[in-house]
Parts: sequence; structure tokens; C-alpha cells
Amino acid sequence: MKIIKMKQLNRRDFLRFAGISGALLLTELTPLNLLRSAYALKSKEINLTGNLTAVDLGNGKPFIAWTYNGRIPGPEIRVKEGERLRVVLNNKLPEETTVHWHGLPVPNGMDGVPYVTQKPVQPGGTFVYEFDALPPGTYLYHSHAHYQLDRGLYGALIVEPKREERGYDREYVLLMEDWATVDGGGPETAKKGRIRPLMGMMGMMRRGAGGPLQEPLYDAYTINGRVFEASLPFKVKKGDKVRLRIVNPSSSTIYTLRIAGHPMTITHADGRPVLPVTVDALRIGTGERYDVELIANNPGRWHIYNLRDNSPASGWLLGTFLYDGIASKTYNTDNIIGDRINDYSILEGIDERYIKPVTSVNKVFRVNLSGGMMSPYWTMNGRAYPDSDDISIKKGDRVRIEYFNMSMMAHPMHLHGHFFEVVGTGRVTGVRIKKDTLIIPPHMGRGAVEFIADNPGVWFHHCHNLYHIGSWDG
Ligand code: C2O
Ligand code: CU
Repeated sequence: MKIIKMKQLNRRDFLRFAGISGALLLTELTPLNLLRSAYALKSKEINLTGNLTAVDLGNGKPFIAWTYNGRIPGPEIRVKEGERLRVVLNNKLPEETTVHWHGLPVPNGMDGVPYVTQKPVQPGGTFVYEFDALPPGTYLYHSHAHYQLDRGLYGALIVEPKREERGYDREYVLLMEDWATVDGGGPETAKKGRIRPLMGMMGMMRRGAGGPLQEPLYDAYTINGRVFEASLPFKVKKGDKVRLRIVNPSSSTIYTLRIAGHPMTITHADGRPVLPVTVDALRIGTGERYDVELIANNPGRWHIYNLRDNSPASGWLLGTFLYDGIASKTYNTDNIIGDRINDYSILEGIDERYIKPVTSVNKVFRVNLSGGMMSPYWTMNGRAYPDSDDISIKKGDRVRIEYFNMSMMAHPMHLHGHFFEVVGTGRVTGVRIKKDTLIIPPHMGRGAVEFIADNPGVWFHHCHNLYHIGSWDG
């Protein structure tokens, strides 16, 4: 696999990525991380076939979704720390595709960004992704081509630690996804069952003049591919210590997730361990993952729901948390809700052997995020790719990126190939957690991250709102 340097790509390819996105150029190729080669464990082979499949989310509006192996979400990929993962991708979709291993610092050629790290896999084609599963954590895999993620091409990627330090009795993975099954954009979308971004007049009519363009309206929210009415309850026994790996592959919804009757203790943010901290509801942006624990000590049938405007009254239902032996179909009233909701400042990272702390930086970049009002483009530093300032760095650089959000929407900024340390968010400074995706709050919101450039290649860096990446169809 040849690593494609950005300079070798032609201009047309870049235009596809106009929007809040850019690339980091890490020059000087070196052999892979020595840590990786210290592992020579077994390997695991997985087949992923992208194809079109009739899907019913449970809301009585079956449609043709884009799936991995005929399911939504795609199959859970679960490996042990250090195991070598080989994924054979077969493209039976009508379009070119790639798979991205969101959050996992894989070698650049395996990162799955079309025209940046690989030639996309054409319909009928195959591609083998191969990398070592390190470090342990909760990750996400998804197509990185066009709007395919939003059509159903995503799944969980779990790297289990060699030795689990936090014991628990049960574990569930929750993939939260927003769906627009309405016919909003003409015959093509009626057929596909998914609307396209609402541009121009269509967007104005649907949202009212003046509202942000390009944001689909959602009429279904699912956990693990089922709407609330059709959901399978998450079952627990009284006394269980339960781990939930909560993953947000939605195209643009930032959730405030609540499990009625139960506070949750955050133990990992984007797969990285943090000092445990308890919240009543979990705020989770697109592309983010949180591992939480809870003690099942409040028997009943409970709603899992999203809090809107921090109020249970205006939220929407997502699923059911159910104790063994509860026969009643009536849901308990959420009686013990407090107001603890995570922002990054309440989290504190734990040192890990895989990720060196950033001690001092030698390069600082400032990124202004703007756009959205009446313009179909979201930009970094006022410019859309490929005219954006590429962030050019050398191996070993210690880089700081400072974000300023001049727009009225939150932007979950995601960096490929690296974990960064969050060093400030909002008005808070001195935060020190490792992540790969960070929500930059709207209306002059800020955020700053630092990382060591230790994984050479051209790395994509973008807002994880799928409708802010840019004009894929441009
Ligand atoms: Cu999940 Cu480029 O990202
Ligand atoms: Cu954005």
C-alpha cells in the first residue's frame, strides 16, 4: 500500500472535501511504532461486505439501507489488545467506498480516507485492511465516502485490554444513530429512503428561512438500529455492575443521554481511561465514545432517553433498561434525576503506557470555524478545502491546535491517526484528557488540543458532523 501524499492528488479530488476539514501533513516516513512490533500475537480475520439491504428500524417505514453484512449496525468487531486485525472489504455497493477505523491510530495507508490515504474501492472491488489493535478502547468503524455513514455503514470496534482492570458483570454496546426516513429530496432519495442534505430552496422550505441549511430533519432515532417502539430491552439483574460502551455514529445529533433511575459513572472518554466521575446524563457528540458503569440497584422498567434542553419533558425515547423479573409493562417514573451533565472539564485523564504526555509544544495553529448561516459551506479559517491552510508538521513535532468557533453550531472536531490531549474547552483551561474528538461549542466557543506527531502520513482533520465536512458531491 502506497501512502499518497496530499500534494500528489489532483485538485478535483480535494474539492470533494470542501468544508470543515483539512489535512495534516506529516512528512518523513518512518517504520511503524516500535511498540507495535513488540507484539506478534494472533490475528483475526473479518469479512465486511457492503451491500444494499431492505431494513426496518421498527417504525413501519422499511427502506433500502446501505449495510455491512446486511445489518444495521454492521457486525461488532471485537479483538484483544495487540491482536492483528485483518478486514477484507468487499464492495457490493453501487458507489466507491472505504472503511475508516475511527479513533484507532492505524498506519496511514490503512486509515480509509478516499483520495487521501487510499484509492477508494470501486463497486465489485475488494481491499484488505490490516493493522494491530492498539491501544484498548471503544472505537467505531464507518465508511468515509460521501454520506455512506449516514446510510448505515457503521459499526462498533472494541479492543479489549489484555487484563481488564475494572470488573463488571455485564456489558452492552449502544450505537446511537439519527435517521431521516422522510422523502425530502426527490426520487433518488425516496428510493434510498434517506434524504440528502437540505440545500437551497428545499432546505429553506423545510426549515424556514434563516435556519441553518444542510441539516437534515430527523424523524427516527435508534439505538443499535431499532427505534424505541421496536427496541430490545437492555436486561440486567439486581446488583449487576453494568458497563455500557456508548458510541455516537450519528451524522449530526449531539445527545444528552439519560437512563432513568440510574446515574452513570464515566470511566473512559473516546476509549481513554479517566478518573471515574458520576453524571446524571451523558452528553456525547458525533464521533465520540464514552464507557460508563452503573450499578443496577433500582429494579424496574426504565426509559433510556435523550434530554432536550436538559429537560426530561422535551426529550425523546430511545430504549428500555429492564430488570429481570419485572412483568409490568409500565415504565417507572424517573424520580432521581439530578443535574450533573459532563463537560470536558470534569474529566481527568489517567496516564497510559501507549500515549506519551505532551510536555511542551513547538508548533501552534489557530483554526477558526465558521459558516452555516446562509451559505452552504462550512469553513476553516474562512476558506474551504483545498484552499485551506494545510497544517504541515514533522515527525516528533509537538503540536497545538486552537479552535475558535465563530458559528452558531457546535462542531465536534476529529483528528485521524492520533490521540490528542484536550488542554482547554469553553472557558475552562487546564483540562488534561486524551481524546480524538472534541466538541467546540458554538458562539465564540473555544477548544485547544495538543498532540505528538508520531504517526507519519497525511491525516484528515475535520468536523464530525457529516453535513459539515463539505460538498461530497462537489
Ligand atoms: Cu469518524 Cu474522518 O471520521
Ligand atoms: Cu461542524
